[in-house]
Amino acid sequence: MPSLSPLLLLAAIGAAPNLANAANSWIVPGAAWLSTSNTKIDAHGGMVLQRGDTFYWIGQAASHSVQPYMYTSTDLLNWAPAKNPQNSIQWMWRPKLAKPNGSFYIYGQVDRNVQALISTSITDNYSVSGGKVTLPPNAYTYSDTGMFQDDDGTWYLLTSADHNNVQINRINSDGSIGPRVGLMAKGAYEAPGMFKVDGIYYLIVSGKTGWRSNPNSVFWATSLGGSWTGPVGIAPEAEKTYNSQNTFQLTLKGSSRTTYIYMGDSWDSKGGPDSNYVWLPMTVDKASKKVSLEYHAQWKVDVKTGAVSTPGLKTRYEVQHADVVGRDGLAGRKKGGGPISSDSLLTFRNVAGLGGRQWVQIHYRVTDRTAGEAHISVNDEPAVNVSSLNHRAGYHHVVPVELNLRAGSVNTISLGMTGREEAGIVVEGLEVVED
Ligand code: GLA
Repeated sequence: MPSLSPLLLLAAIGAAPNLANAANSWIVPGAAWLSTSNTKIDAHGGMVLQRGDTFYWIGQAASHSVQPYMYTSTDLLNWAPAKNPQNSIQWMWRPKLAKPNGSFYIYGQVDRNVQALISTSITDNYSVSGGKVTLPPNAYTYSDTGMFQDDDGTWYLLTSADHNNVQINRINSDGSIGPRVGLMAKGAYEAPGMFKVDGIYYLIVSGKTGWRSNPNSVFWATSLGGSWTGPVGIAPEAEKTYNSQNTFQLTLKGSSRTTYIYMGDSWDSKGGPDSNYVWLPMTVDKASKKVSLEYHAQWKVDVKTGAVSTPGLKTRYEVQHADVVGRDGLAGRKKGGGPISSDSLLTFRNVAGLGGRQWVQIHYRVTDRTAGEAHISVNDEPAVNVSSLNHRAGYHHVVPVELNLRAGSVNTISLGMTGREEAGIVVEGLEVVED
């Protein structure tokens, strides 16, 4: 194999990963998520609606003038772009889906007002339904949108931000926005989402820090009219909601358990197409009313039973068996162990692959993620920054990235760094996921 110098690899950083099409077998918080058409799923600030065996994911498409885009799935892993994106309107933020009567509606924020779209088909042919409206009772404007359907089938639009408060408005059976039924005025919050467990309403909200993540929290109440008890954090504070912002809570009623899923956005610095998603199961302590995100680097849910699982088959490669290769391209005598430096690469050889797209969990620590970051290359492909593959880079010590591996014990995986040595990037090993 020709030796690649770290400098050559650095020159190539930023190139998009070229991954062969294959089915997705895991939900990977923070990672780039590919659709069945091999495009990056572009549906931010959205929600998932289940109808029968099919899930519909709607969200704002950052690469298409913030139009509402939709994807469909039967397993919550593999998402097909809907045949006809809703292209009648642009700059609609945080679109949500509801079915208050025989038609389907999309409600989203346009110019800080509610704009509704209507169709008889859930996935296509939406047309603009009426003009932009402010919210009853006081002609409120707002920025963020949430959606909740109660047990009796009634739909509620959640809104937040302009007035800091979270407001809950009923959606009338004619699709218009009805009266305010609830108001949560306990601080400056946005990005509302709601779910209900045993008669208790749980309202998850974010703080107001723009595209930067913050510790999201939960309030609870016995009725939509309040009063609301909270806030309580839903994840350890330093994790900043695992580097995400709330958008929706999905309730999956399986045959063996009901699973509650947190859906969040892991925004890039401007809410652009590089933004990713953080979906995690939630645990609800019914006695204390505490809601906690259950963190998994990779997981999936059986949509029939509701059971959550994590990878079982993994092969681990310890850093002690990796080579440190210097600028001259020659393997040093020293084996890996200390922090990686800007003029060397840590190289794992003879890594076994199945052939095709495969998840590799990088186990590493970062002292200061603002100082620099790790990059990775596999075989003779260009190096890419780990954060371009997974927004959990630097935030967590197990970061799965999807790579193209050749079949057999023939793969070479190298890790290097960009930025300053103070980043303190210490790699412990790699785990190649085989299921
Ligand atoms: C908040 C909102 C996002 C987006 C950013 C813009 O975080 O929740 O949807 O509007 O502000 O700064």
